[in-house]
Amino acid sequence: MKHTLEEMISQDEINAKLDALAEVINRDYADVDNLLLVGLLKGSVVFMSDLARRLTCDVRMDFMTASSYGGGTESSGEVKIVMDLANNIHGRHVMLVEDIIDTGRTLSKVRELLMTRHPASIKIVTFLDKPSRRVVDVPVDYVGIAIPDEFVVGYGLDYAERYRQLPYIAKVVPA
Ligand code: XMP
Ligand code: MG
Repeated sequence: MKHTLEEMISQDEINAKLDALAEVINRDYADVDNLLLVGLLKGSVVFMSDLARRLTCDVRMDFMTASSYGGGTESSGEVKIVMDLANNIHGRHVMLVEDIIDTGRTLSKVRELLMTRHPASIKIVTFLDKPSRRVVDVPVDYVGIAIPDEFVVGYGLDYAERYRQLPYIAKVVPA
């Protein structure tokens, strides 16, 4: 599809939001021994890198790839784990790190799966949230920025694998 990009969230706004998020998380995890950040590939990589560098507790990292069938721009109900964690999370404090929550289907399934492995705790942080699109109720503990129902790219988010490296968030506009 022919399209143009329109900046929606600037690099400065992103940085300010990261500082604010990290401040709250650092306070909440001040007494936690170590925290395992679980990034959902690939979209969360940029956000997770920036967030992790602002955290003061003892942080470890792991990654997972979940894909939802259905194609198009909306995730289906069926979520498949394409790549599982390298770590055993039994008894660990886990924070799921997501780029954006849309219907909530992906995170809800991943959270359910991880719960069966008995972590000490599990929380969710997402950089972006489209609350108006939610289909499945999923407990989100930390949200960076709530946005309207627009398809966005940049800061890890892609359109057909492009634009992940943009340092800002942009709206995809059909040309
Ligand atoms: P659900 O619907 O399961 O989907 O919450 C979350 C996943 O859908 C993708 N997604 C987007 N990707 N721009 C993107 O580049 C968007 O505006 C967008 N909305 C949803 C994304 O992979 C996310 O993890
Ligand atoms: Mg994603």
